[in-house]
Amino acid sequence: MNIYSVLLLIIGFISLTGCEYGPNASRGFSLPEGDAANGQQVLVKHKCLACHTLEGVSDDTIEPELATLVQLGGRTTKVTTYAELVTSIINPSHKIAQGYMLDSVSESGKSKMRNYNDVMTVTELVDLVTFLQPTYKVKPNEYTPYGRYY
Ligand code: HEC
Repeated sequence: MNIYSVLLLIIGFISLTGCEYGPNASRGFSLPEGDAANGQQVLVKHKCLACHTLEGVSDDTIEPELATLVQLGGRTTKVTTYAELVTSIINPSHKIAQGYMLDSVSESGKSKMRNYNDVMTVTELVDLVTFLQPTYKVKPNEYTPYGRYY
């Protein structure tokens, strides 16, 4: 192992662990317990279903605003945390949803999602996230079945 590989290892280690510290770390983030039943009403009130689908929730009065609706909830390969959901709602462009054509969900790198930061109360946000989080179910990784060699 030469000096460069040692340096690379150190840099790699810092970049992997680095984000746990510093002013942008999610350390210390904690939501008060919200009211899930009210959260469902918040979802309908703020017309999230104009651009989203969520199993078990529908609103016949709504006009779709996107050609491809973005699914909320459902099965993912990793836990969707409260912090990630809050971020998705108050800062949608931070991480663009996976599994969609980029230009159907974003425009020049920015999410097509509406900004709610001046119209949604914090209580509504907490209730909404309390309602949404359990709708994400973790599915175990599936292994690719390979044929056997004889
Ligand atoms: C005008 C359309 C529009 C409306 C209205 C809208 N969204 Fe979105 N939302 C999007 C788009 C497009 C994406 C995918 C791009 C992204 O990740 O920001 C998205 C992404 C999300 C994500 C991340 C999904 C993922 O799989 O990563 C969450 C959570 C979300 N929205 C919640 C909401 C909630 C809650 C509301 C209502 C308060 C809402 N959205 C209203 C368009 C919308």
